Amino acid sequence: MKKKRSTFKGTLGFVLAAAGSAVGLGNIWRFPYLAAKDGGGLFLVIYLILVLTFGYTMLTTEIAIGRLTKTSPLTAYEKLDKRFSWIGKLACLVPMIIMPYYCVIGGWLLKYFITFISGDAQTATDDAFFGNFITSASDSIMATIVFLLICAVIILGGVNRGIERASRILMPILVVLVLIISIYSVTISYSEGGVTRTGLEGLKILFIPNLKGLTIGKFATTLLDAMGQLFFSLSIAMGIMVAYGSYVSDDSDLGKSINHIEIFDTGIAVLAGVMIIPAVYVYMGQEGLSASGPGLMFKVLPKVFAQMGTVGTIIGTLFFIMALFAAITSAVSVMEAVVSSFCDAFHLKRKHATLIETGIALFFGIIVCLGYNVLYFELKLPNGSVGQVLDLMDYISNYIFMPVIAIATCILVGYFVSPKTIVDEVEKNDSTFRRRGMYIVMIRYIAPVLLGILLLQSFSVFG
Ligand code: PHE
Repeated sequence: MKKKRSTFKGTLGFVLAAAGSAVGLGNIWRFPYLAAKDGGGLFLVIYLILVLTFGYTMLTTEIAIGRLTKTSPLTAYEKLDKRFSWIGKLACLVPMIIMPYYCVIGGWLLKYFITFISGDAQTATDDAFFGNFITSASDSIMATIVFLLICAVIILGGVNRGIERASRILMPILVVLVLIISIYSVTISYSEGGVTRTGLEGLKILFIPNLKGLTIGKFATTLLDAMGQLFFSLSIAMGIMVAYGSYVSDDSDLGKSINHIEIFDTGIAVLAGVMIIPAVYVYMGQEGLSASGPGLMFKVLPKVFAQMGTVGTIIGTLFFIMALFAAITSAVSVMEAVVSSFCDAFHLKRKHATLIETGIALFFGIIVCLGYNVLYFELKLPNGSVGQVLDLMDYISNYIFMPVIAIATCILVGYFVSPKTIVDEVEKNDSTFRRRGMYIVMIRYIAPVLLGILLLQSFSVFG
């Protein structure tokens, strides 16, 4: 007899798990930076419009595909149309590429959390601290292993006792921590050379649209930045939402859940801006805002926390545990996309599939760590950045494979299985699909074009 597929126990469990996947490092280390760089409020408005249209379309499509086919990414697409089975293979390959390097970054977060909680925050203010850590292969490999094992244990627990439970615990704590840090960040001020900078001024940089010197080129950059960020932030095109959608019970209201996931992800991204921009602005001035990614998280922020004095150690500790939670729930979703695919396609037990994926992530994770050591190289990527193994893996998955998967999904749904299939899936049990007309136009015409532009930009076609 076929084993019954696990389902999330409640709609809230599903929303928290999917939001746990969506809320990750992208929200924390990339969104605030892009908002500050691209004219504050202008970026926010464009981002919001895209969330409600493009993001909504892609998220709905993937979750509905999962629930409709009741299977994981590797087998879901072929159920819809045999000619598109390759999307499933790619959608399983992408999380296999992402998992190893996500664990390496998770390991960095662990290291910083431990450094802060043990009262050594001061040592992290030295720029060499981060460099020394990542170039010492043994330390970063150890941290990677610990992070990977935490994720593997959650996955082994299964959909309810593992993923759903972890999300129900970690996500509310994350929200509370983000709120505490945000409130603190807005209330601080600092005087230097007779000038006082306040958190409220920093908030203006985030929210007030800066239209000075706005050109069509600048507007286009803002649009592309917002779209790329949104795409990554909603965890689309990497099999995750298909896998999670396959665990949603037929009687839950899909439309409502999708709205909640979007509100959660966007809300935390904006709050991350409130948390980071005023604090960095107050202590480092406008120049501090030019950092993003690991530079912001592991070099600039420790200096900001140090400037806060004793409170800084507490705020820094809370910040790194919050980021660690965000990373764990995201990494768990990446791992689940692979594990559920292995279970469904090869009829493996969860335990065995988890073991295999842990082995793969460990092997490539070690290679990523060695990328800052014996395997060091400086590779110029087609999008203009220079990087090591981690950046190469990130480029291939995020800049090439993910847009390709998303474009192919739009073509599959728009022209082969028909958008009506997805609409019907959402409208099951009288759920209302309010943005239905928009959805059909979006999936057929606009989303594939936007995604095509995004893919071309990966090769710096538009400079
Ligand atoms: N959506 C996550 C974020 O915004 C990113 C993510 C990437 C999640 C890869 C899972 C896998 O950070």
